[in-house]
Amino acid sequence: MKLTVIGCGYLGATHAACMAELGHDVLGMDSDMDKVAVLNSGKAPIHERDLDDLIAKHTASGKLSFTASYAEAAAFGDLHFIGVGTPQQPGENAYDLSHLFAAVRQLAPRLKGPAVVAVKSTVPVGTAPRVRDIFHEFAPAGDRIEVAWNPEFLRESFAIEDTLRPDRLVLGFETEHSWAEAVLRQCFDKIIESGTPAIVTDWATAELAKGAANAFLATKISFINAMAEVCEKSGANVAELADILGHDVRIGRRGMRPGLGFGGGCLPKDLGGFITRADDLGADEAAGILREAAAVNARRRQRVIDLAREELGTDLRGKRITVWGAAFKPETDDIRDSPALAVAQKLHELGATVTVTDPKALDNARKLHPELDYVEDPIAAVDDADLLLHLTEWHQFTHIDPKRLATRTTSPKVIDARGTLNTDQWREAGWITRTLGRI
Ligand code: UDX
Repeated sequence: MKLTVIGCGYLGATHAACMAELGHDVLGMDSDMDKVAVLNSGKAPIHERDLDDLIAKHTASGKLSFTASYAEAAAFGDLHFIGVGTPQQPGENAYDLSHLFAAVRQLAPRLKGPAVVAVKSTVPVGTAPRVRDIFHEFAPAGDRIEVAWNPEFLRESFAIEDTLRPDRLVLGFETEHSWAEAVLRQCFDKIIESGTPAIVTDWATAELAKGAANAFLATKISFINAMAEVCEKSGANVAELADILGHDVRIGRRGMRPGLGFGGGCLPKDLGGFITRADDLGADEAAGILREAAAVNARRRQRVIDLAREELGTDLRGKRITVWGAAFKPETDDIRDSPALAVAQKLHELGATVTVTDPKALDNARKLHPELDYVEDPIAAVDDADLLLHLTEWHQFTHIDPKRLATRTTSPKVIDARGTLNTDQWREAGWITRTLGRI
């Protein structure tokens, strides 16, 4: 098939490359000319496992190219995916849909014949009819434009895997037996043939699916972190508790790692966006559980600050603190709503000198937080530190020998906020250790 992907950020660039991998001819469109140039040179605009290789493979094979022109995109094919970002509105929880509506307004007047527009961007429930109205009013093809809702559930650092072998495909249509269903089934035929369930539903359910999935994942993390708070008061061990709970298949161990809580470009934003929309719809009581999940998440960050002050005294001025981790999770350079950087920045505000290290995210962190100090080498970063904080669980950090590290500081104290350091070894090497959920 010939198809386009409008918006080539994380989601769109991955989707475009994966559609080419499925055998389609793909034109990616993004209004950022620099991004288009990078993509056309066969490189990914972001750090994502294997994405560079896949883009290089298909820009070379001729199956994948990129443009900044809506006219070219509109003329290219009859199936258009929209994957533009829907960030949080500054200072609010609601989604900023301006990029989505800008893309729709640009594309609509250029669609001359029947086409399917499949929206992948995450939105508040109730957005699809507004998108349809614009196409029907402004596209020369009018109501021969069929809007479909096809939410995306990919995880960063597993984006290709999650796109090519998803747990499920969700296809939302305005009416039953929409002709767009056949088009999307054809597009995803290799994925469906390999056994992935394709769930066909209405627009509202498809729109809710992504927000609800992320709200659940966030709540699951906050549940175990709430248990961590109880463990901290009772002397129990939250890591072992999570294992015990996880053996019950109804609960499951995955996505229930206790620690510093969730961050990133999706979970916090989708939780907030979901609560805001539920409130608007008069379902504010239902959103209560999600408000609590957000509150637990914020308390984990505060807990690290409190522990740092227990170890160093309430006045942090003049104290040297080293932070291992800047990315919101390992294997990415993404620092959006990074719990590690939020803690680092707060400690800096409280007067500490904060040195941050991270295997991949230092360049991004430097730009956003020029007030912090940065060191590439995680061992050198600990030189003369009064306290070490382990805030993003990169495997590089867990492999560092605590004995060797202890010689770099006169104050060997570590707070393990992710629970992945071998604290027995660290204690044997002379460190005072504190672990979230195990104190
Ligand atoms: C998430 C969803 O998993 C994905 O389905 C959706 O499409 C986008 O949002 P992502 O943001 O890439 O994906 O990361 P994820 O691996 O879910 O982790 C999110 C945050 O939660 C990270 O900060 C991570 O450190 C934290 N986390 C995750 C935990 O604290 N404990 C866990 O058990 C899992």
